Amino acid sequence: MKIFNIIFFGFLTSILTSTSSEASAARTLMEEGMQLTKKLLVVHSSPNPLKTSFSRKLAKHFVDGLQARFPGYYDVEELDLELNTPPRVTESTIGSVFTCDPKTPEEEAYEAVSSKLVRQLKSSDAIVISTPMQNFTVPVSLKLWIDAVTRAGQTFQFTDHGVEGLVKDRPVMVVAACGGNYFGTEYDHVVPYLKPTLSFIGVEKFFSVEASATALAGAEDSVANARVELDRHLDSFKEATRSSSN
Ligand SMILES: Cc1cc2nc3c(=O)[nH]c(=O)nc-3n(C[C@H](O)[C@H](O)[C@H](O)COP(=O)(O)O)c2cc1C
Repeated sequence: MKIFNIIFFGFLTSILTSTSSEASAARTLMEEGMQLTKKLLVVHSSPNPLKTSFSRKLAKHFVDGLQARFPGYYDVEELDLELNTPPRVTESTIGSVFTCDPKTPEEEAYEAVSSKLVRQLKSSDAIVISTPMQNFTVPVSLKLWIDAVTRAGQTFQFTDHGVEGLVKDRPVMVVAACGGNYFGTEYDHVVPYLKPTLSFIGVEKFFSVEASATALAGAEDSVANARVELDRHLDSFKEATRSSSN
């Protein structure tokens, strides 16, 4: 009986030990897996649908390229600002913008949208923004998103050394399309606007690719060049992707 007990308990112990070590190995693998998957936030702002929008198509080309080259590495989350345009800051909501402390139902409603967008942005490890040029700058939907996510205490803060951006370490790729030939001219307020604005909230790894003349003869060349340029950025964008998760 004693011998039987020894054999039985030895057997049980070995099962329990192997089960718990396997579970711990699986947990480690899962954690590594979780760390390996990076959230890629893709923000679209063209009023045109994918079928006709140059900026959307080019952004898709880049995201497809990332997924083909780095299978399973990016977990893509899309935000379509044409379908989900953030609300405008108005007289009845402006009170909460700087305090993040809503007092009225209108302020609470704005704060809820803004906080959700801030959380979405801050949880990203890499960002792609597609935008048309509209009257020399970005569409109003993209401007409203920037208003909603540029929040003191949340995406930037005031310190003794000045303003500190809190959306650090992750790259942004801006893919922009313009009907004429205005990129790089004094009329251009797309990348020259987005780059410092995103830098203000901490984004320093800034990439951009532009397709000009989408409404002119030569659009095909311009789009083909943009595709080549986007392909060239695949490795450096992946390298720049935030290495530790929140
Ligand atoms: C309201 C509006 C304003 C525009 N403003 C400009 C402009 O300032 N300069 C320009 O070259 N093209 C302008 N365009 C043309 C767009 O930039 C062009 O069609 C671009 O391809 C749109 O991007 P998408 O193809 O991704 O939708 C404008 C188009 C619209 C609808």
